[in-house]
Amino acid sequence: MSKATRTVRARYNRIAPLYDLLDRFIPESWRREAVGLARGDVLEVGVGTGRNLSLYPAGCRVTAIDLSPAMLARARMRAARAPVPVHLLEMDVEHLAFPDRTFDTVLATFVFCSVPDPARGLAEVRRVCRPEGRVVLLEHVRSEHPLLGIMMDLLNPLARYLVGDNINRRTVAAVEAAGLHLLRVQDVAGPLVKLIVARPAS
Ligand SMILES: C[S@@+](CC[C@H](N)C(=O)[O-])C[C@H]1O[C@@H](n2cnc3c(N)ncnc32)[C@H](O)[C@@H]1O
Repeated sequence: MSKATRTVRARYNRIAPLYDLLDRFIPESWRREAVGLARGDVLEVGVGTGRNLSLYPAGCRVTAIDLSPAMLARARMRAARAPVPVHLLEMDVEHLAFPDRTFDTVLATFVFCSVPDPARGLAEVRRVCRPEGRVVLLEHVRSEHPLLGIMMDLLNPLARYLVGDNINRRTVAAVEAAGLHLLRVQDVAGPLVKLIVARPAS
């Protein structure tokens, strides 16, 4: 595990007791829209404290991973109450321990802002997603507005230090660069929060 990844894990271990308080700013309707798209064998990446687990449609079988044991400990209770089977594992998205083409859906909400090497993580997501499967991401991204984009670049070190998030990631471009074909890119809350649906490019 890289030094950067160990730093992210330590940060989320520290934030875990407060995460659900901070998370109140994320409306459940955003999560419902993303999680409602899940089908079949699902990999949830960066499950955190398990805020999505109650929202999975019937028929899903969820494997949910996270880097942080403290976040996973909080997800455990929500996993037990979830309407679908959930299997929690400590794992790094940059090194997934699953064979190629294992999952019908790979889902992540507000995760690729904190993964140290998102290109590597997204390549792993593509690898484990079945050819006919879907990748569903809900992510905040860098502004396309020239001035706001530069401000986000300048503020990024502070945001990363305080809450462990990069606020200036170009995640839509990163998804395409990882060999995923974009099916839908939707502004969820203005242009800064996007629902991204993609499939492995053939
Ligand atoms: C902002 S939280 C989001 C949690 C949850 N998805 C949600 O929507 O509430 C980011 C989560 O991603 C996890 N994470 C960051 N880097 C990761 C990695 N390389 N592999 C797996 N999980 C990671 C963190 O531990 C943290 O739980």
